[in-house]
Amino acid sequence: MARIIGGIASTHVPAIGNAIAKGLQNDPYWKPFFDGFPPAQDWLAKVKPDVVVVFYNDHGLNFFLDKMPTFAIGAAETYENADEGWGLPVAQPYPGDADLSWHIAKSLVADEFDMTICQEMLVDHAFTIPLSLLWPGANNRPVRTIPISVNTVQHPLPSAARCLKLGQAVGRAIDSYEKDVNVLIVGTGGLSHQLDGKRAGFINKKFDLMCLEALQQHPEQLTGYSNIDLVELAGTQGVEILNWIAMRGALTGRVSKVHSNYHIPISNTASALLVLENQPAKPELRLAG
Ligand code: DHB
Ligand code: FE
Repeated sequence: MARIIGGIASTHVPAIGNAIAKGLQNDPYWKPFFDGFPPAQDWLAKVKPDVVVVFYNDHGLNFFLDKMPTFAIGAAETYENADEGWGLPVAQPYPGDADLSWHIAKSLVADEFDMTICQEMLVDHAFTIPLSLLWPGANNRPVRTIPISVNTVQHPLPSAARCLKLGQAVGRAIDSYEKDVNVLIVGTGGLSHQLDGKRAGFINKKFDLMCLEALQQHPEQLTGYSNIDLVELAGTQGVEILNWIAMRGALTGRVSKVHSNYHIPISNTASALLVLENQPAKPELRLAG
């Protein structure tokens, strides 16, 4: 029986990849950011996930503005990265888990989420950077991966309520997987940031801290915000919090905080990390629920 052991949400700013490539972890600009990660790495070493489901947004490497699925899931045995133009080293491929991907995809479609199912999928910085932070070392691939891309790029975007429901449906799918695997859910992007326009550099610490709090025990509180509200309060790219909300939805058990970090700014972004443990519900309660 598969178990969802927890969820982690992390910023995915490309400049982090350049800092890793140049070994700048102890540089005064970067240290408060990188210092946030050892507690997450220690927790992962303890709970030992076998598979990671990553909710992220593709920034044009795999989908472009002419064809933008609202939700897409990878169903491949391996995922490649490629040059996105940020000057980042191209990451080595990531192993997939096509069997679990297909199980989740079938369960989601039966649950009325009409996913785009990708048997080939290039993964960009929004996937590679958080995994490099959680498992440092250039070619460190200790877990199989399942990418789920959420459109946070081109309007109309899915609502926060819909993303929470997508996460819940992914949680139910994993709960019903027969194989004995430990699954970690990751959500990437955010928190508040805006990369261009008149408000470039916009950050909203008060809103971010409220979101970090709400994600722990009251994620449904965030479904009261429309995407226009989120753009206003968190910046045009701050809507990437939709990936965090989907991650939180997949934690179907009792959730407790292991660790968090918040540091302003990394590039144009309020960087944040949230590590949540999920105590799976007992099977009989799950059936009743
Ligand atoms: C930055 C943040 C992002 O989320 C992204 O995808 C690209 C760049 C930034 O702050 O530089
Ligand atoms: Fe981004």
